[in-house]
Amino acid sequence: MTIAIRYDSKTGNTKKLADAIAAAVDAQALTADRPIEEKTDVLFLGSSVYAAGASDKIKQFIAGLNKGKVGAVACFSTAALLPSTYNQVAKLLRDKGINVLADEFHCRGQFHFMHKGKPDADDLKAAADFARRIAGEKK
Ligand SMILES: Cc1cc2nc3c(=O)[nH]c(=O)nc-3n(C[C@H](O)[C@H](O)[C@H](O)COP(=O)(O)O)c2cc1C
Repeated sequence: MTIAIRYDSKTGNTKKLADAIAAAVDAQALTADRPIEEKTDVLFLGSSVYAAGASDKIKQFIAGLNKGKVGAVACFSTAALLPSTYNQVAKLLRDKGINVLADEFHCRGQFHFMHKGKPDADDLKAAADFARRIAGEKK
C-alpha cells in the first residue's frame, strides 16, 4: 500500500502531527506545496484553522489534486478554538470526487498563551495510533 502525507503548518503544530504520522506508517511528511505525483492509496492531509478557515495553501493543494491518483484521504488537524477543519476540507475534496474517510484526527494546537505545549506527547501518540489504524484498515 502506498501512503503519502501532506500538511500545511504556519507555526509548527500540525507539522508535529505530520511527523508523528510519518514515523508511525513509515512514510515521508511533506508540505502542501509538493503535489501528489504517484498513485497513492491513502493520503494523510494535515491542516489547521486560520481566521476561521483552512489555509489558501491547503485549498490550492486540493485544487491541484488528481482524483485518479488518490484512493482515500485521511484528514488531521489542529486548532486553538474551533473544531477541526474536517468539514471544510472534506467538502472541497468530495466536490472533486475524492473519497474522504469519516475517521479523522484533531487536537488542540498552541496559539500564543493558549494550549501551551499542544500538541503534547499524548496527542502525538494518539495521532500515530490513528495513522496505524487507517493504514491497517486499508491493507
Ligand atoms: C494567523 C492565525 C490565525 C488563527 N485563527 C484561528 C481561528 O480562527 N480559530 C482557531 O480555532 N484557531 C486559530 N488559530 C490557531 C491555530 O489554528 C492553532 O494554533 C493551530 O494549531 C496552528 O497550527 P500550525 O502550527 O500547524 O500552523 C490561528 C492561528 C494563526 C497563526
